[in-house]
Amino acid sequence: MLPKIFGLLAAASLAAAAPANGGGSSTGDSTSVTHTATATSDIAAAAATAKTESPTSHVKGKAFDRILQIYLETTAYENATADPNCQALINQGILLTQEYGVGTPSQPNYISPASGDIFGLNSDSFILVNKNVSTIVDLLEDKGISWGDYNEGLPYSGFDGFNYSNPVEGYYVRKHNLLMRFDSIADNPDRTAKVKNLTLFYEDLENHRIPQWGFVTPNLYNNGHDTNITVSCNWTRSFVEPLLANPYFNDNTVIYITWQANGQNPIARNHVAGILLGSAIPKELVGTTDDVYHNHYSELSSVEANWGLHTLGRWDVGANVWKFVADKTGDVIRTWNERIAGDVFENYYWNQSYGGVFSSAVEGLHVYVAPNTGLVHAGRTVLPSIVRLWARYCNKLPDYYRDIIEVPDALHPPKGFEVPIGLEPAMPIFTPITEFPVALRSDVNPVTTD
Ligand SMILES: *[C@@H]1O[C@H](CO)[C@@H](O)[C@H](O)[C@H]1NC(C)=O
Ligand SMILES: *[C@@H]1O[C@H](CO)[C@@H](O)[C@H](O)[C@H]1NC(C)=O
Ligand SMILES: *[C@@H]1O[C@H](CO)[C@@H](O)[C@H](O)[C@H]1NC(C)=O
Ligand SMILES: *[C@@H]1O[C@H](CO)[C@@H](O)[C@H](O)[C@H]1NC(C)=O
Ligand SMILES: *[C@@H]1O[C@H](CO)[C@@H](O)[C@H](O)[C@H]1NC(C)=O
Ligand SMILES: *[C@@H]1O[C@H](CO)[C@@H](O)[C@H](O)[C@H]1NC(C)=O
Ligand SMILES: *[C@@H]1O[C@H](CO)[C@@H](O)[C@H](O)[C@H]1NC(C)=O
Repeated sequence: MLPKIFGLLAAASLAAAAPANGGGSSTGDSTSVTHTATATSDIAAAAATAKTESPTSHVKGKAFDRILQIYLETTAYENATADPNCQALINQGILLTQEYGVGTPSQPNYISPASGDIFGLNSDSFILVNKNVSTIVDLLEDKGISWGDYNEGLPYSGFDGFNYSNPVEGYYVRKHNLLMRFDSIADNPDRTAKVKNLTLFYEDLENHRIPQWGFVTPNLYNNGHDTNITVSCNWTRSFVEPLLANPYFNDNTVIYITWQANGQNPIARNHVAGILLGSAIPKELVGTTDDVYHNHYSELSSVEANWGLHTLGRWDVGANVWKFVADKTGDVIRTWNERIAGDVFENYYWNQSYGGVFSSAVEGLHVYVAPNTGLVHAGRTVLPSIVRLWARYCNKLPDYYRDIIEVPDALHPPKGFEVPIGLEPAMPIFTPITEFPVALRSDVNPVTTD
């Protein structure tokens, strides 16, 4: 029985942490210092040698040649769409009316668009996602598509501290940094060189070195976290409109704006708004809506469909692509299937994370589930290097990742990943979590199933 094997792991992922702290003191382990140093002197020293890169590429996409994704903080659909500045942006593009967050608190919604799962995460803690977990970056690099992750307030490229009050760019937090939580990024200097601050975004813009795939996280003031929707829509409009007017930037480009979660639990079911705009949006679709069910995995599937990428073999595989992309790629849009989901759409809340390796719940399996490496969707197969990597591991759960749009929530968890309903998000933990759960290795447990 799987639960018995994995039951041993119940506390392993959260307990087995290096004795580091937030002040940048050394534990004799250089990795933990890199991950936590936030003292001014540490930052100055690291900034002096931080590597920065701005590669470009020109890979034609079926629906767009460039995408810039902008993530804003917790706001309900109704509130985002009621703001006059956000309305002005909506009027210039497509409004996604059926978009939903996938977990709580914010951090799970900021790892899902990179890796295709929330891995049970229900905290804003300092997490290190094992290097065996692949991300969108692996898929993009496989096809030679340039990428960049821009974080306002980041003191230097590849900074991996928990937070930083930047005197020039404002307050930065790691939990909102799309890529730095992944060891496959953080431990690779060629990749951390592309995790940059907003000053470098403007520099890249000026030098015509904006990548084909970009992600922008504004600081805690501008993204609405410490303020409100008035401020975040005002900031977003003033950031986006000059980009739309810039012929270099807005060349068959799509800008995607979304809010990580709704925040008005439990009634609002994590319903958020999404806005697509830019010159890649067909003229006749400007001012219309896309009423298909989307979530943060649609950001992955739409990019995969656009450039014909491989997939991660997780929740990205079946996620509906944006309709304007499907029109060009031939992807089939699916509606909620009550039989697959086991329940009607209205009973899904996504207001609490189901269990998994990063869950604070004592119940539930604490494992990284292997990607479902056999999935093929619209001709897209799982990235061959992912297939090879996970062939050695035993934790393949056939009922977990499937080619479906119906993603779980805590009220409808994957089998074995149940958590107590109503469990509050866990308090942030600052200590790096370094251990890879031992029971995932095939030399410890036999392969159970495919
Ligand atoms: C910044 O991180 C430190 C731990 O490294 C924590 O004590 C502090 O509360 C954090 N501040 C904010 C605003 O998150
Ligand atoms: C959000 O919108 C609702 C109405 O849809 C309103 O009652 C509520 O006050 C708004 N919240 C904020 C923070 O503006
Ligand atoms: C932005 O990052 C660059 C490259 O690491 C660094 O030199 C610069 O000081 C940073 N700017 C701010 C305002 O933190
Ligand atoms: C939103 O936040 C800004 C900055 O903190 C403040 O000036 C403004 O009054 C706030 N607006 C509302 C409606 O709360
Ligand atoms: C709105 O944005 C402009 C341009 O960035 C800025 O000067 C202004 O202070 C912002 N207003 C608010 C209320 O945030
Ligand atoms: C997966 O991660 C663990 C821990 O970092 C490592 O020991 C193992 O070699 C990795 N597996 C592969 C196939 O790289
Ligand atoms: C999520 O919503 C359900 C249904 O309303 C509710 O029972 C549950 O307590 C909510 N969970 C949280 C963490 O608010």
